Order: sequence, then structure tokens, then C-alpha cells
Amino acid sequence: MTGKHPFIIAIDGPAASGKSTLGRRLADALGYLFLDTGVMYRAVTWQVLRSGIDVGDEAAVTAVAAKIVIDVRPPTVRDGRACDVIVDGHDITWEARTAAVDANVSAVSAYRGVRAAMSEQQRRIGQRGRVVMVGRDIGTVVLPEADLKVYLDASATERARRRFQEMQARGAQAEMHEVLSAVLERDRIDSTRDIAPLRVASDAILIDSETLSADAVLAQVWKLCEAG
Ligand code: CDP
Repeated sequence: MTGKHPFIIAIDGPAASGKSTLGRRLADALGYLFLDTGVMYRAVTWQVLRSGIDVGDEAAVTAVAAKIVIDVRPPTVRDGRACDVIVDGHDITWEARTAAVDANVSAVSAYRGVRAAMSEQQRRIGQRGRVVMVGRDIGTVVLPEADLKVYLDASATERARRRFQEMQARGAQAEMHEVLSAVLERDRIDSTRDIAPLRVASDAILIDSETLSADAVLAQVWKLCEAG
């Protein structure tokens, strides 16, 4: 810790639980760096699909993860994005959120080599401190030394409803039942994989956001930050 605020903050939780919204707002309030690690796994998946690589080919997918240069920068376009995601000079911010990436990202993220490549970069960034890092395994594996760990949860139905609304707001085509099954399937793969599965760190604060607004969640976490 430095001063009265936690130096390293880890936020984990299942798909569409509001981690990125909370993380972005918390980082802004504290003047910290925000890193949404999900975009890194999405970028690898996007590159795999674009290159026509079979997602089941672990060696080929791992080679992509070892080589890819992902740039995550503050947003330059005001279209609801939390950050710009750039790969090979392409702005892939929204392409990384298509149904095709959603359907394959959990399989890609389960590979040992992919996780090793991504978590090494995340750890290097996180250890500098003054950071809010969001993902599935930040408090358990990437930054177990984090000063504040939050695990954000809500029912699958509520999370799918929020994701559906987000997609509608940006004009993406979707059916509610498809969004729900995609969320459930990602949760299943993410929490049952062998390496760094999604789970609550023993020292994490669990927040159920089922009936809470984004403001209310932020207020709760802000109190935890102030309690230092
Ligand atoms: O935004 P949403 O919660 O839907 O997903 P995300 O945070 O963008 O993460 C996309 C996928 O990346 C997850 O379903 C996981 O398979 C993977 N992921 C991971 O394995 N570890 C992380 N630290 C972050 C994401």
C-alpha cells in the first residue's frame, strides 16, 4: 500500500459481471492505470480466427500468443469503448467483441502457453502498482499480492441481460437466449479449466451486483479503498 489507497487492485468475476465498468471508474477516480486483461485474450482469439488457424490446434494458437503485440490505449473514439485495442496497426476494439470471438475465446484462454504469455505481460505491468487489473485470475494467479481483491458476481440471467443491453446500445445484432447460452458456456469453460480457473481468491471481497447499479457497486468498493 502507498498512502491510504490500495496500491494494486484486482477485480475478478464471471462474464459480464460489470468488472470492466467498475475497474475503469475506479481507476479514473484513483488516477491509476486500468488494464482489462480480457481484451488480451480476445485479441489473441481475433488473430487466430483471422489467420484461419484451427482453434483446436494448441501449438499454432500458442505461437500466435507468443508473437502478438497488443496495444491497449486510452480511447480515441467516443463510441462507448473503454479503451482502444490495437493489433498490427488495426483497431480491433469492436471486432474483439463479436460473437465469433465470444464463442472461441474461452477455448483459446484455456491453453497453458497462451496463459503463460499473457500473464507474464500482465504481471510486469501490475507489479509497477497504481493499477486496477480486471479478469478471471488476477487475484489468484497474476497478482496474488494485490492489496485489494474484489470478486464481482451476479446471476447468469442478469449478466446476460446487461450484455444484451450493451450490444443493443451499440447496434450489434443478438438474441437474448443466444447471449445467455454464450455467457453460460464461457463460464463453464473458464471455471473448469486446469490452469488458472475462475474462482474466488480466499482473501477477496465478494460483491453480488444482482440488484446494484454501477454507481452503487463503485460506492461499495470506494469505501473499501478508503478503509485502506
Ligand atoms: O467482458 P467479459 O466479462 O464478457 O469477458 P472478458 O473479461 O473480455 O474475457 C473474455 C474471456 O477471456 C473470458 O471468458 C476468459 O475465457 C478469458 N480471460 C481469462 O481467461 N483470464 C483473464 N484474466 C481474463 C479473461
